[in-house]
Amino acid sequence: MKDIQSNLQAKEEAATRSVEFIKNNMKVGLGTGSTTAIAIKKLGERIQKEGLKIECCVTSFQSFLLAKEYNIPVYPIQYFSSLDLTIDGADEVDSEFNLIKGGGAAHTLEKIVHSMSNQFICIVDESKHVKRLGEKFPVPIEVIPEAISIVQKQIEKLNPVNMQIRMAQKKDGPVITDKGNFVLDVKFENFHPEELEIKLNSIPGVVENGIFSLYKPHLVITGGRKEIMHRK
Ligand code: 5RP
Repeated sequence: MKDIQSNLQAKEEAATRSVEFIKNNMKVGLGTGSTTAIAIKKLGERIQKEGLKIECCVTSFQSFLLAKEYNIPVYPIQYFSSLDLTIDGADEVDSEFNLIKGGGAAHTLEKIVHSMSNQFICIVDESKHVKRLGEKFPVPIEVIPEAISIVQKQIEKLNPVNMQIRMAQKKDGPVITDKGNFVLDVKFENFHPEELEIKLNSIPGVVENGIFSLYKPHLVITGGRKEIMHRK
């Protein structure tokens, strides 16, 4: 679905800059994906070099394994009632800081963690910037398996251009999320991010969708661009 090796230098630059925002005693949320994976590694290096004291939570098993590898202290999300900072990537970002996320099928925990964070830093490369959300990427929707048919039927009413159950690469059948659910990738032609985000989540059986317009990033760091974009 996405090319993890692409734009490595830009991802590295964005990830490295984001980690500089982490200070002693902070509670930190760590997202998921190839850009965040670099940030996790860089954070591990800072902990080792500077003895940085922080408490973290993660949004996927992938990020948990990486955090463990780099000796980053990880606590369950429910240990925290708020976070100082979260670092996470995105599949698309528009000029209003609306995002599409979920290329790694981790958007449910990501949205929870973003909603708990006083500051959310989104780290991307140039290819993630779009004029209109949905330009390149479908909207990932996490669905309870028993509800898949009825959810598909309800989504048909919203006139999608395309809708597919995300299929696994090294397993027969669908991708199963960390929470044991399926993912529908749904391409919409034109949509209002906030309206569609709310509408999709009102369908019984939908756990969470990958439009992030209610909890937007405060900062967007783009590898290759000097200036950091601040939310107005
Ligand atoms: C995972 C995500 C990722 O943050 C998003 O897919 C971007 O990943 P990458 O940094 O690998 O391009 O939303 O669910």
